[in-house]
Amino acid sequence: MKDQLLELEKRGNDEIGAINDPSDLEPFRIKYLGKKGALTSLMKSLGKLSREERPEAGKLANQIKVNLSRRFQEVKTSIEAGKSRGVASVDVTLPGRAPLYGHLHPITTVIKEVCLIFSRMGFRVVKGPNVELDYYNFEALNLPKDHPARDMQDTFYISENVVLRTHTSPIQVRVMETQQPPVSVIAPGKVYRRDSDVSHTPMFHQVEGLLVDRDVSFGELKGTLTRFIHQMFGSDTALRFRPSFFPFTEPSAEVDIRCVMCGGKGCRTCSHTGWLEILGSGMVDPEVYGFVDYDPEVYSGFAFGMGIERIAMLKYGIDDIQLFFKNDMRFLNQF
Ligand code: PHE
Repeated sequence: MKDQLLELEKRGNDEIGAINDPSDLEPFRIKYLGKKGALTSLMKSLGKLSREERPEAGKLANQIKVNLSRRFQEVKTSIEAGKSRGVASVDVTLPGRAPLYGHLHPITTVIKEVCLIFSRMGFRVVKGPNVELDYYNFEALNLPKDHPARDMQDTFYISENVVLRTHTSPIQVRVMETQQPPVSVIAPGKVYRRDSDVSHTPMFHQVEGLLVDRDVSFGELKGTLTRFIHQMFGSDTALRFRPSFFPFTEPSAEVDIRCVMCGGKGCRTCSHTGWLEILGSGMVDPEVYGFVDYDPEVYSGFAFGMGIERIAMLKYGIDDIQLFFKNDMRFLNQF
């Protein structure tokens, strides 16, 4: 009996020592310590022993039960602790996680680039309010209330005399109100029109330019804008000035560049004309000087305005303006 008990203890100790997996714990307990386990059945057979043998064997059996139970608890505790330690611990041999860097939105990048090019030519960057008086957005730009050209821009009205600016041109008036010539400013900002499709969004960005001084001619307008386009799109970019109309410039011209998609052969982007319109411009209409107290006999100047999204689309070859405002990371991460 004694030998059987010692043998059982040895096997039990060996077996519990080899356990690593927590799912092996319960089968071990049942096999050795359970109600129908090996130790219990040996203890039940103690009754068959003689009176002299029984106390010693009983004592040994109890001792083995205590020992195996203690071993079992130790192993169980250490396996469980090891498991949770494994989750919380730091593996210093793993490669580090690189921080995620953000970057500028493509529209911001283009605005900065346009402003930088004009800053280098001596233009000062200024801003104006997005919520604008009808007076600055229209009236003082030679667009009286009943003027048909107001229909060119589908306006968001806040009240009868307050609008969301439909272009950055009101900034021209605000600047001229506060200083006499010479003046040369560049004014980036958001503008709003009731329009939405693949080439229009209700909010978009423009950059306005204004230069007024003595003896400013159309030649200076052409030279300044040609230089800008060559810096923005490359010095081999062909461009043309096409007669146009704006109520606040006379004469007016729109500027086209050779289609960046097809190189001028004609494609969908350029409506098979080979040219892409990128900005509006002209000599400041003397009517406007009347609103800001500039003497049209002494001063002349030019103004221009361009759509930033349009320039960004041409520069990066993007065919849907809505992409700029969806904040889809798959799109934004390409810049
Ligand atoms: N404000 C005009 C537009 O939004 C562009 C423009 C600006 C034209 C300055 C001439 C001079 O279409």
